[in-house]
Amino acid sequence: MKDVLPEDAPSWRYLDWCIRETMRRFDYKEIQFPTFEETALFTRSIGKATDIVEKQMYTFTDAGKRSMTLTPEGTASVVRAYIEHAMARKTPYAKLFYIARMYRQEAPQAGRFRQHTQFGVEAIGSESAAQDVEVIQVLVETLKLAGLESYELLVNSIGCSEDRVGYKKILIEYLEPRIEKLCPDCRRRFRLNPLRVLDCKKEECIGETGDVPFTGDHLCAECAAHFDSVKTYLEALGVDYRLTPRLVRGLDYYTRTVFEVVSGLVGAQDSLGGGGRYDNLAEELGGEPTPAAGFASGMERILIAMEKEKVEIKESAPLDLLVAVLGDEAMAEAMKVARSLREKGVSCHIDMMGRTLKAQMRQANKIGARKVLIIGENELKTGRAQLKNLGSGEQTEVSLSSTGEIQKEVAR
Ligand code: HAM
Repeated sequence: MKDVLPEDAPSWRYLDWCIRETMRRFDYKEIQFPTFEETALFTRSIGKATDIVEKQMYTFTDAGKRSMTLTPEGTASVVRAYIEHAMARKTPYAKLFYIARMYRQEAPQAGRFRQHTQFGVEAIGSESAAQDVEVIQVLVETLKLAGLESYELLVNSIGCSEDRVGYKKILIEYLEPRIEKLCPDCRRRFRLNPLRVLDCKKEECIGETGDVPFTGDHLCAECAAHFDSVKTYLEALGVDYRLTPRLVRGLDYYTRTVFEVVSGLVGAQDSLGGGGRYDNLAEELGGEPTPAAGFASGMERILIAMEKEKVEIKESAPLDLLVAVLGDEAMAEAMKVARSLREKGVSCHIDMMGRTLKAQMRQANKIGARKVLIIGENELKTGRAQLKNLGSGEQTEVSLSSTGEIQKEVAR
């Protein structure tokens, strides 16, 4: 788990801005959900035979003897909220986004954290292939706005549940003679959930399944047409993608389109974001049948990629003013002046460390203050003080009783 220290905060703020700005451009509305939910919500939606449910959830029993789990992902919570608040009655079509902490008990490594932050979107209500492409676009446009250039979009279709019944039989037949060579997880899961074998990242499993039959070759006519439309829209928009027949994703709720954006810059954990369509989830969670598509993306991983690509972080608002205080008596006056300036929208930092004037000036430069107002005994007596512009070195005298005047001078 990671702390975000003051020096890391500007990049987080910048990425947060890029996300919210993209959501505004695409008209997605924010939703917030609780940090923990009933465990059954996640086991039902993500699927029992998945890494997340089998190994990674932070689950505890609460005082009411209920099994609760810290959110390992956001889709289940958003769909739960959509059903619980009967959102379909207000608007059958909801375009939602979230920025939320997620918890997965995984072996930590570069780009993989037990607490991480995902931003994600869930577009609930449309079955159009254009919707799949719009959510892909939201991810790609956010990455672009954040300044990233080096990533690749992988796309596949895993068909509808009927397609998968047939495909699973074919897959089990294919895997059976190879079963001894697969990893223990795949050996255990292969009957229950053979698709998981395709998502396994272990070398022995990838090597052993090099000529595996692909989901894309076993789609019904509707799913094949849907996937063709997805590709047509991507091409019309000039969004580059790579067809990746092995891509099935690690959660069970997907139907039809699945996608992932990967980057070679983050290390072994190369997925910057992933998602797809999940047309059966609302019904599985007790709601009306409702088609939906979405994705989520790990913000820590995007920040690692931004650092590797040397993206320039634009600090949106530098500190306006450092109030340099000399002596205890001046402190009360400095606090009063700063209070009045802050009410007028000026950002102020007061030195609380009893530093010398020289050290306070050094500090002002270090924290990027634009101007410094110096208040000491003399200024208390005369009611006038020097306002120094740290960029030009220019000094102006201002009246301490007129914060309106100081505000104007600071803004200049
Ligand atoms: P996911 O692929 O499990 O999908 O996670 C989405 C993204 O979260 C990953 O691509 C990765 O960037 C980030 N991520 C996952 N685990 C970690 C970790 N331990 N440390 C750092 N980053 C991580 C989902 O969660 C689905 N809910 C996505 C979705 C939304 N599908 C449809 N709608």
